[in-house]
Amino acid sequence: MVSRRVGSVSESATLHITEIANKLRLSGVDIINFSLGEPDFNTPSHICKAAKNALDAGETHYTPAAGIPELRKVIAEKLVSENHIQIEPSDVVVTPGAKQAIFETLFTVLDSGDEAILFDPAWVSYDACVRLAGARSAWLPTNASDGFIPENINEYVSPKTKLIIVNTPCNPTGAVYDRRVLSEIAEIAVDHDLLVLSDEIYEKIIYNKKHESLASFPGMKERTITINGFSKAYAMTGWRLGYLAAPPELVKQILKVHSHSVSSATSFAQRAGIIALTADQECVSDMTAEFKIRRDLLIKGLNKIGLKTSTPDGAFYAFASVSEYGSGDEIAELLLTQAHVAVAPGSAFGSRKDYIRISYATSQERIKEALLRMEKALLSS
Ligand SMILES: Cc1ncc(COP(=O)(O)O)c(C=O)c1O
Repeated sequence: MVSRRVGSVSESATLHITEIANKLRLSGVDIINFSLGEPDFNTPSHICKAAKNALDAGETHYTPAAGIPELRKVIAEKLVSENHIQIEPSDVVVTPGAKQAIFETLFTVLDSGDEAILFDPAWVSYDACVRLAGARSAWLPTNASDGFIPENINEYVSPKTKLIIVNTPCNPTGAVYDRRVLSEIAEIAVDHDLLVLSDEIYEKIIYNKKHESLASFPGMKERTITINGFSKAYAMTGWRLGYLAAPPELVKQILKVHSHSVSSATSFAQRAGIIALTADQECVSDMTAEFKIRRDLLIKGLNKIGLKTSTPDGAFYAFASVSEYGSGDEIAELLLTQAHVAVAPGSAFGSRKDYIRISYATSQERIKEALLRMEKALLSS
């Protein structure tokens, strides 16, 4: 009944854990959910107001497939001024979430037999989208000892390689790639005539480091699809609003997938997106400052209870080694059933089976409580 493409993909492991956690919660268990990539803050009120105004003004219809012109213009201006990518509004496609932008891109550029280079560990949906496009991932392992930075990328390029997937700041490790790494990726992409999907959704959630966009490197604008969105920086996960910027010929092709599948992103969410990008950005820095306090609290606590974790430079995840206690799958189950703390096993993100990913998009009080529960469960295991 099912195509080989869809049959080869498993359900999202992080959503699966959340489902179990939600069931336990419904039965009255006090679950601390560290498993989902979702800021716990509410969307700032000025952004909500923009959507309400749009609804009141009757903006309840289809929009142009690529997005309302005002939003595409604002996104292009942001990419030019902040990210130094010299693009036009016509190079932007507004999507229902960054995830849809990633899906549409991979579906557009990959054929069966093609390979996409993926740095292991990687966010759960890249490999799934590569498979749904009928292609396969070539996994390049990264190590905690190198800060999960990819090395020797050249060795993973084959005649089948079509694209490299880059995600900085990285989910699940929090690694931020500096100019040296990005220059190396750019050089390889240019030398081998490869495309690059650069997922920059965590660009604003970064601590004492500078985010740089691959498309701003020499020779890269012509071969990079830059992905970004509103979910993380503006706490807008439920709005489903993201975007991509790509070379004009690719935009034309991606728009075929986009218009035949989703038609467009939601009209009033797009209006809210304009305000999110153009209003004062204090809400973003406030949220990031709070994430930093939580990060420091969590990393200190994890290392204290024997879960070796290096300090991530971005995003809101800690990737902790649980090898002292068991496999990531075992420890995720133990923590859920004994400590009522939901985390994602490392196996969800590639081959790092002795790790767990902890999302610290949770209040400081809950982090403290979770650490106490985790310590108790691990010591009695
Ligand atoms: C690395 C990465 N890219 C993309 C997304 C998707 O974000 P959106 O909510 O905009 O679809 C996520 C969400 O968890 C993510 O972690």
